[in-house]
Amino acid sequence: MAEISATAKLPPSGDKHVAERLWVIFVTGIIVLLVAVVVYTSVHLGFHPPSQVETIDSTALHTGGEFTEANLGTVIAPDGSAVVRVVAQQYAFVPNCIVVPAGKPVTIRVASADVVHGFIVQGTNVNAMVVPGYITTVHTTFQDPGERLMPCHEFCGVGHQAMWAHVRIVEASRFPTGADKQKAVNCAS
Ligand code: CUA
Repeated sequence: MAEISATAKLPPSGDKHVAERLWVIFVTGIIVLLVAVVVYTSVHLGFHPPSQVETIDSTALHTGGEFTEANLGTVIAPDGSAVVRVVAQQYAFVPNCIVVPAGKPVTIRVASADVVHGFIVQGTNVNAMVVPGYITTVHTTFQDPGERLMPCHEFCGVGHQAMWAHVRIVEASRFPTGADKQKAVNCAS
């Protein structure tokens, strides 16, 4: 019995060491590759998670501040870029039709009035969660005029499947100019 247990405790043969070393090199190589991809895409291609941490009182969006009703919709800056403010609530986006200029930088700012929602603009890389208590900010540029759907993609209750908005991308020249520029517009304006 003593001889058998001594045999079982023999160290692995040289071949096994080589195999283990190859696996360590292989796995380390995968980790190095993945880190390199993250660094390359964030530094050279500008891919970043929407991670600006801005907090807001979700229970008081309508009573004052950035997300009051008059501020919702699209405002054009002097340089032609746009800022869109949207409230996500059970079970609609307000406004439910968002109008943006084609070919100009667009910043979308969304706050939830109740629970966690999400939004994705069909055919683009705009895709984010809206967490109550925080402002979600996404920067993008819509190239071609047209109409796109923007559904909520986080289950938010019994009406979730009916929660979506339209994004209408129009020529930048069709936006208000002069004194009206600072007035928030939506598809009905
Ligand atoms: Cu809002 Cu699902």
